[in-house]
Amino acid sequence: MNMKYYKAALVLFFVSLSYLTEAANDNGSLGASFIFGDSLVDAGNNNYLPTLSKANIRPNGIDFKASNGNPTGRYTNGRTIGDIIGEELGQPNYAVPFLAPNSTGKAILYGVNYASGGGGIMNATGRIFVNRVGMDIQVDYFNITRKQFDKLLGPSKARDYIMKKSIFSITIGANDFLNNYLLPVLSIGARISQSPDGFIDDMIDHLRIQLSRLYQMDARKFVIGNVGPIGCIPYQKTINQLNENECVDLANKLALQYNGRLKDLLKELNKKLPGSTFVHANVYDLVMELITNYKTYGFTTSSKACCGNGGQFAGIIPCGPTSSLCEDRSKHVFWDPYHPSEAANVIVAKQLLDGDKKYISPVNLRRLRDI
Ligand SMILES: *[C@@H]1O[C@H](CO)[C@@H](O)[C@H](O)[C@H]1NC(C)=O
Ligand SMILES: *[C@@H]1O[C@H](CO)[C@@H](O)[C@H](O)[C@H]1NC(C)=O
Ligand SMILES: *[C@@H]1O[C@H](CO)[C@@H](O)[C@H](O)[C@H]1NC(C)=O
Ligand SMILES: *[C@@H]1O[C@H](CO)[C@@H](O)[C@H](O)[C@H]1NC(C)=O
Repeated sequence: MNMKYYKAALVLFFVSLSYLTEAANDNGSLGASFIFGDSLVDAGNNNYLPTLSKANIRPNGIDFKASNGNPTGRYTNGRTIGDIIGEELGQPNYAVPFLAPNSTGKAILYGVNYASGGGGIMNATGRIFVNRVGMDIQVDYFNITRKQFDKLLGPSKARDYIMKKSIFSITIGANDFLNNYLLPVLSIGARISQSPDGFIDDMIDHLRIQLSRLYQMDARKFVIGNVGPIGCIPYQKTINQLNENECVDLANKLALQYNGRLKDLLKELNKKLPGSTFVHANVYDLVMELITNYKTYGFTTSSKACCGNGGQFAGIIPCGPTSSLCEDRSKHVFWDPYHPSEAANVIVAKQLLDGDKKYISPVNLRRLRDI
């Protein structure tokens, strides 16, 4: 019998059993996707926290097919960038939220999502939400997952699977500005005691340690997103009473300053940590392109949130059951005061998967998978 058919038959008869060897040996398929970050990629962790930052309320998730349009804890109308990338790289299901009680055993083999709405690089970031999981703790959580993989696959196969077949994606940093440094309440922001340079130095130093810890636990293929144009989100435009085509200068400047340092950090780590590939995802330029040339991409607005309330851009009160909802969700770059719509996420994800060095370097994610 042809080897391919033999394999297919095995898959048919022993679906769950064969996955262990299939995913561990086959080329052109991703093993696990480990997703770290904030609300841009949270897939439901905050559902399990007593926190003011929640998205498991309608109409969030209204276009999420896997839940029939019910809210899942994702801060958008459909899939996050992490979901779309996993799907495109051949994963049969989305990375499961670490904090979900049923994220155990075989359920974690395709990956685990640690992201938490309100979380940041700095531990103090997001304190106004009472609870959230910052990056330090997310890495601690991966340490737990790492041991579970040893049990599931055996230590040698687990190491191989994590080093060669798995991608670590990190989408973090926006809250360190929005819900820390830039908070109007100076007493809880860091701005009162630190210059932008000092604060960004701290962020980079912390991130260096966080990424190195993941490397110590066998992570090798990384993709790290830079901070988007946070001065152009409906929330910032509304509270600063800007015109439709203006953005908040200070917020964008801080993001760009951090992004420059991030690029250097990833170069440094690529040299310093043998066998590693740190890929830089230029989310800032990608989202800025969508915001500036939104008409080219079929959107009708890049300033007004689809779901939200308050001010000219529906940008003050987060999306919930009493929010006004736009007519055509696929025509808005922003779903709510802070987060892109699924339509925008699809465009960003496609560029990260198959785009060129302008947006994703040194390799795109499809190539990263096959390294
Ligand atoms: C996967 O690709 C590598 C390098 O291209 C090759 O050495 C290996 O034998 C391939 N494995 C399978 C299962 O095809
Ligand atoms: C875990 O439970 C939720 C419902 O509470 C369900 O939607 C999800 O599919 C389950 N996940 C797994 C991996 O069984
Ligand atoms: C970081 O924050 C967590 C709560 O999210 C807390 O338990 C922990 O002690 C903090 N760590 C440091 C070093 O401040
Ligand atoms: C992982 O946890 C163990 C304790 O179980 C600890 O000794 C080790 O330092 C941790 N690794 C990292 C990278 O945090």
